[in-house]
Amino acid sequence: MVSLLKLGGSVITYKEKPLTLNIDAIDTICRNLKHVKKPLIIVHGGGSFGHYYSLKYNMHSKPDRYDIHGVSVVRCSMIELNNYITSIMVRHNLNPYTIHPLTFMDKDKPIIDKVKEVARLSEEGLIPITHGDILPTVDKNYYILSGDEIMSIFANIIKPDKVIFALNVDGVYNNMNEKRLIREISAEESIEITDVHADVTGGMKRKLREAFKIASNGLPVMFVNGLKSERIVKALNDEAVICTMVR
Ligand code: IPE
Repeated sequence: MVSLLKLGGSVITYKEKPLTLNIDAIDTICRNLKHVKKPLIIVHGGGSFGHYYSLKYNMHSKPDRYDIHGVSVVRCSMIELNNYITSIMVRHNLNPYTIHPLTFMDKDKPIIDKVKEVARLSEEGLIPITHGDILPTVDKNYYILSGDEIMSIFANIIKPDKVIFALNVDGVYNNMNEKRLIREISAEESIEITDVHADVTGGMKRKLREAFKIASNGLPVMFVNGLKSERIVKALNDEAVICTMVR
């Protein structure tokens, strides 16, 4: 059965430094992913690539007539980030297969057969990899589709055995002063979330919202520290790991 892994922008880039990759983190994750022996689909975020330009051109997840040059540079930055990640994957002998969101999205609706095809590719030994993006709606509007929303869309259609969000922290904390890790959380709980400001798609709040949506369909969701990449592998291989479980 296939698993879904989101590599958050806070893991693969330095979120506070524009256009800066965290090459060490990507490299270590790729090296470790060789130990995962089951079908996998990866979604990655924008971090200091997509978010940097979306902020610069004043874009939001709400559809609007954004500056058309901004639309172009946000997209280019996501393709560039994707290229970096996939080339490191290939160097580690992994088999990434990039799928741009426009292939499986029709405006703001998923194309169910195309999403199912993504799952099929993962069962054939490829690692389908897609990313947050800027997409056209109707009437010359554009909107930002976050990687977190793609996770929800995929989880809903593909029904993976597990859904993992890799972040730059151990999971969800009770608050940012005490930083006590919440081991298990359910949709009913209200917690105080401190967000990174350079984030047009709503950072941690959106992740939790999407995680609750996924978990309410009965799928286990985990928030794992992607900077300790052995935890991603353990989580994928059903071993106990430090994380926040969303139920
Ligand atoms: C962002 O995707 C996509 C763009 C800004 C184009 P995410 O919102 O999922 O990115 P991270 O993981 O939070 O950085």
